[in-house]
Amino acid sequence: MGIIYNETSKTITLQTKHSSYQMKIGNLDYLLHLYYGPSIWDTDMSYQIMQYDRGFSGNPYESRNERTFSLDAQPQEFSTQQQGDFRTASIEVVNGDGSYSYHGKAVSHKISKGKYQLDTLPCVFAAKNDTVDTLEVTLSDEISHVQVVLLYSVFEEADVITRAVKVVNSGDTSIHLKKIMSVCLDFFNGADFDLVSLPGRYGQERQAERQHMTHHIHTIGSVRGSSSHQQNPFVILCDRNATEDYGKCYGFSLMYSGNFLAEAELDQYDQLRLVMGIHPKQFVYELKPQEVFEGPEVVMAFTEHGFTGLSHLYHDFYRTNLCQSKFVQDVQRPVLINSWEAAFMDFDDVKLVEIAKAAKNMGVDLLVMDDGWFGKRDDDNSGLGDWYVNQNKIKCGLHKLVEQINDLGMKFGIWFEPEMVSEDSDLYRAHPDWAMQIPGRHAVRSRNQMALDMSRRDVQDYLIQQVNAILDDANIFYVKWDINRSLADIWSNELPPERQGEVYHRYILGLYRVMDNIIKTHPDILFEGCSGGGGRYDAAMLHYYPQYWVSDNNHPIDRLKLHYGTSFVYPVCTMGAHISDSGKFVPIKTKAVVAMCGTFGYELDATHLTKEEQAICKEQSDLFRKYYPLIIKGDYYRLTNPFKAGNMTAWQHVSKDQSESLLSVVVTNLTCNGPQEYVQAKGLVPDGMYRINDGKELYSGSALMNAGLPINREVDEYSSFQFYLKRER
Ligand code: GLA
Repeated sequence: MGIIYNETSKTITLQTKHSSYQMKIGNLDYLLHLYYGPSIWDTDMSYQIMQYDRGFSGNPYESRNERTFSLDAQPQEFSTQQQGDFRTASIEVVNGDGSYSYHGKAVSHKISKGKYQLDTLPCVFAAKNDTVDTLEVTLSDEISHVQVVLLYSVFEEADVITRAVKVVNSGDTSIHLKKIMSVCLDFFNGADFDLVSLPGRYGQERQAERQHMTHHIHTIGSVRGSSSHQQNPFVILCDRNATEDYGKCYGFSLMYSGNFLAEAELDQYDQLRLVMGIHPKQFVYELKPQEVFEGPEVVMAFTEHGFTGLSHLYHDFYRTNLCQSKFVQDVQRPVLINSWEAAFMDFDDVKLVEIAKAAKNMGVDLLVMDDGWFGKRDDDNSGLGDWYVNQNKIKCGLHKLVEQINDLGMKFGIWFEPEMVSEDSDLYRAHPDWAMQIPGRHAVRSRNQMALDMSRRDVQDYLIQQVNAILDDANIFYVKWDINRSLADIWSNELPPERQGEVYHRYILGLYRVMDNIIKTHPDILFEGCSGGGGRYDAAMLHYYPQYWVSDNNHPIDRLKLHYGTSFVYPVCTMGAHISDSGKFVPIKTKAVVAMCGTFGYELDATHLTKEEQAICKEQSDLFRKYYPLIIKGDYYRLTNPFKAGNMTAWQHVSKDQSESLLSVVVTNLTCNGPQEYVQAKGLVPDGMYRINDGKELYSGSALMNAGLPINREVDEYSSFQFYLKRER
């Protein structure tokens, strides 16, 4: 059983294969957080709590003259407001009487089999043969009658615990939620932790960063209306000396695509509190009596095996428990060519067929028609929202175009940006009130487009109808779903002035409803997410799409960092990676080696390539197909850190049974007459014997992992190597 309630100690222990998580219904029924880390079985971990009279830390009234019990120093499972805990709160609620107070005490708990679900938000699910148990703890405030339901699911084998929260207004007046965090964890010895996050910018997403804890609140978050390029809803807390292979690491991955916040607070007593959830900026959510609010899920994983151990937990879990698309595991994804960097918006049906014909010689299976095919769309100033074919460009009509591509033996894909509208569009002219715009003010423009008010049901229904109609009109195999601006002018004409603080969140709920409908109506279509590259690359998006465009930056050397950072949490099989013209001095072979650390494809004008170049591409496409199971289903290892000075970047894919592996190296720098360098493999069977690239010699896994492979330095800069290791005994 993954959840143990001990009647005597009143502890509840969540037990995975290698980790324990414990809480306790403690003093005065406060729910205390006692432990998260390596297994401790059923030990009551409350012995760690030392109680002192801490000056200036308040005591609950019921403690009477007992001054040693203060919520300011006690480890909390859900930190409250105005109860003497001055650290960051999990909830801020304005009660019906105008007071800001929440005094939640544990009133009940329930343990059941299976995974909880949320009605309004995406969640991970229990896969076939998973043992999953769920705990529900209800906290209640006896004055306001606001209940907080804490949800936990324990995935025993996967070493994963998920958390989510529901707020129920059981009182008889409306309340207003101003902050609600899905997770709260207090650690006793917090000063020795580091925080790892994935900050970035357009073209440089998820550039992994690590910082020591100091005595303040470290915040990671987005207020751009989407999870953003600038931060990612994923953080790691780790030992200060944790490395790729050793050390304790805790991961927190939020299943949410809108504004989010993670706060890590090192307090006055060196205790560390981590909270994560929806960002409170411009968030005021009214709950009428009996209404329920759901906060997004956080997927937590713990390992003692460093960052690689943690990545493997997330990669395995997200490959099996996050996205239901058949393309995640069962059906091989095609090698694609995308029209964007080939033609931008300057194409017609004839040009697309020419690209497809040339790409056919390159071993490409799928042509994707990117931005520019609809409405009046010759540049990015107009047309968004008019999801019908531009007859001047696609003169033969969509159906005929797709037929021509299919006749070549290729599949067809299409681009959408459903959440957006151009002022110069029929949609905007017909429904200006559908665009987010604050009454009486001009909207902020970004790429000259406005965001639709996705919180509106009529907007959602329009998009569902329009996008589904296009997808049903022709034999469409693939969809790229884009969003190319951050949100501003947060306003909905459907909501009264006092409820505008709900719009950010309602936008995301509307988006999920639209995506859910379109994807479920078309289960055979391969969906790829995109947001000006990888601007909304988060776990919730991967619940809907099996893959996501990593970045608009296709430069292969920059991509080394992009893939490195992304891989801390998101599996390689989700990473959209293409070969393009970017990187003038980088050989095409190296571009291919880099793009094979992902879903692999092309983003260039195939008609400009010579027959010889097309033949090279064909070899690469075939190679990718050969290595596909290894890359998509194997274990991924970061062998070097591209953010550190060094002359090469290396990574490795190892099959689950360790019988084969692909080790890739890119030479990023060459020093004159420099030392010989070696790359040490990982994840092999030490006494297994491996043949490299079908050569004559056999090398033991131990030799390859300890001495490593020498990298030939008499090569040109940006050369690359792929070593295919096959175990023979
Ligand atoms: C975004 C995407 C690109 C391309 C363009 C089209 O920038 O990231 O891949 O689809 O939009 O406008």
